Amino acid sequence: MCGIVGYLGHREAYPILIKGLQRLEYRGYDSAGIAIYDGETIKMSKTKGKVSDLIDCVKEEIDTKGTLGIGHTRWATHGVPNKVNSHPHYSNSGNLVIIHNGIIENYETLKKELTKRGYAFHSDTDTEVLVNLIEDIQIKEKIKLGKAVQVALNQVVGAYAIAVFDKNKPNEIVVAKLGSPLAIGIGDDEFFIASDASPFIEYTKNAIYLEDEEMAIIRRGKKIRVRKISDDSLIDPYVQELQLNLEQIEKGGYEHFMLKEIYEQPSAILDTFRGRLLSDQAIIKMSGIEDNMKRFLNAPRIIVVACGTSWHAGLVSEYIFEDLARIPVEVEYASEFRYRNPVINENDVVIAISQSGETADTLAAIKLAKSKGAFVFGVCNVVGSSIAREADAGAYTHAGPEIGVASTKAFTTQITVLTLIALRLARAKGTISSSDFRRHLLELELIPEKVKTALTTDDIVKTIANVYKNSRNFLYLGRGYNFPVALEGALKLKEISYIHAEGYPAAEMKHGPIALIDEHMPVVVIATNKGHYDKVVSNIQEIKSREGKIIAVVTKGDTAVKELADYVIEVPETIESLTPLLTTIPLQLLSYHIAVMLNKNVDQPRNLAKAVTVE
Ligand code: AGP
Ligand code: GLU
Repeated sequence: MCGIVGYLGHREAYPILIKGLQRLEYRGYDSAGIAIYDGETIKMSKTKGKVSDLIDCVKEEIDTKGTLGIGHTRWATHGVPNKVNSHPHYSNSGNLVIIHNGIIENYETLKKELTKRGYAFHSDTDTEVLVNLIEDIQIKEKIKLGKAVQVALNQVVGAYAIAVFDKNKPNEIVVAKLGSPLAIGIGDDEFFIASDASPFIEYTKNAIYLEDEEMAIIRRGKKIRVRKISDDSLIDPYVQELQLNLEQIEKGGYEHFMLKEIYEQPSAILDTFRGRLLSDQAIIKMSGIEDNMKRFLNAPRIIVVACGTSWHAGLVSEYIFEDLARIPVEVEYASEFRYRNPVINENDVVIAISQSGETADTLAAIKLAKSKGAFVFGVCNVVGSSIAREADAGAYTHAGPEIGVASTKAFTTQITVLTLIALRLARAKGTISSSDFRRHLLELELIPEKVKTALTTDDIVKTIANVYKNSRNFLYLGRGYNFPVALEGALKLKEISYIHAEGYPAAEMKHGPIALIDEHMPVVVIATNKGHYDKVVSNIQEIKSREGKIIAVVTKGDTAVKELADYVIEVPETIESLTPLLTTIPLQLLSYHIAVMLNKNVDQPRNLAKAVTVE
């Protein structure tokens, strides 16, 4: 779900398109392509790799003359990143050309029907299905491009930002949006199309941001026409005057990618369970699990391998799998596992968790497990990544590109996927009653809204950050499901603010760390009302008696902890297994605000890389 650009006007399109694609590079992508039309010939060039690779291909493959063009950076969802799957895509006649960000969920059904009607497909993408659907409708119903796009989109389930043009209409581009962003820049007799305004900010400050379910017909020298996709009604578009500078726009108006990604979590979690959690039918549908159900059910244990934040998500999953599905779980640092001659046998299932899908230690752990005959299931965010390819099967997190080095939305979406898997296995094994299963599904569905509420703690978290930003050390405590959240909170703080922090299971405190507590030690305690609330309250008393400063994350409405803590941060109530998805939010914000107040490089902390592809 990456970037699109387009141009229709009086200038040469190519330099505008290329610069635009470069501006969208921060979004992360795996391939790039363009199509330019000079009124006679459509010229297309595309490649796996970077925009710089595309520039090389263009030099060899095409002439770039033309004042209409579209360009794309692809973040593969359907089909591996390669030249053929890269966008733009032609329709079968060669008349229509499309670029698309998003996913057409019902592409299989549509593809079958189109295949029966004689259409051939050259790529594995869902996008090629859409362009042929538009063409089929255009021919069948003898209607114009705009109308055909509209009819087609009414048959489509999924998310899209598209731009499409027709060889027979050298002065027109049709665009539409649902779920993925699409902005139209309006200049003097020229139009710009892009996923955000950064590609055209130097040409015009006037832009229309299409709303979901809207489409626009852009014609050379004409007024832009915006319509509702569903009912054909014309819309008077709101033309915004852009106030933002380039830097801000790339970060969607946020000061840092990390903050943007923290705030994206409600929609990222929703995207993760979309199409998988079907609460009305009381089922969970994940093809990677269904296709390998026997392997999961016969497994004497699950071994989770991962690093860093992904390892923390693995630790949360240990509680979920054991609690709900009654499957023994071992969670291993990939870097330790790969070198310690672990006992693995053919019936074991190994789950490898990785945002980037490129972490060298995790990849090596997978290879080791496979060599011993174990079945490897990958939980990755980056589609087509090395770990995703190496695993026997897997499930993507669909969090979208994560750019900030400190992982945030990757963590919560990994927990979401792992929860879905545990629930599905629990149902198959009969270790969860149907009413409890249903309750979990309903609660999980409410999580995106509750994360939104958890994000409203930003102000109080900022106040807390200001009070404790100069502390030399922090302790983070949690029990049960929230012990890994304590570890993750401490890691976030260390990574971006360079303050030493440790996460501990709350009850372990008295076996050592309690010696550190004095009036200078802030202790972040996760004390939600589910799980071991009374025990955690006792731990808080112990800190209090030693004059430690208590920052408590509590369930909304809590009274007991409020009386003891220096600061409380309230998160909404949910079932115990889902509390990590909420309690982790203020801890992310706390580390973020402290780092900002200390003037640290939040998105690119010293010494760290987004993906650790070396040992
Ligand atoms: C997270 O904030 C860290 N930057 C790091 O620990 C990361 O989680 C780890 O390197 C694993 O990366 P992966 O999920 O891409 O495999
Ligand atoms: N689903 C499309 C593909 O896999 C579009 C991906 C994107 O948003 O870049 O080609």
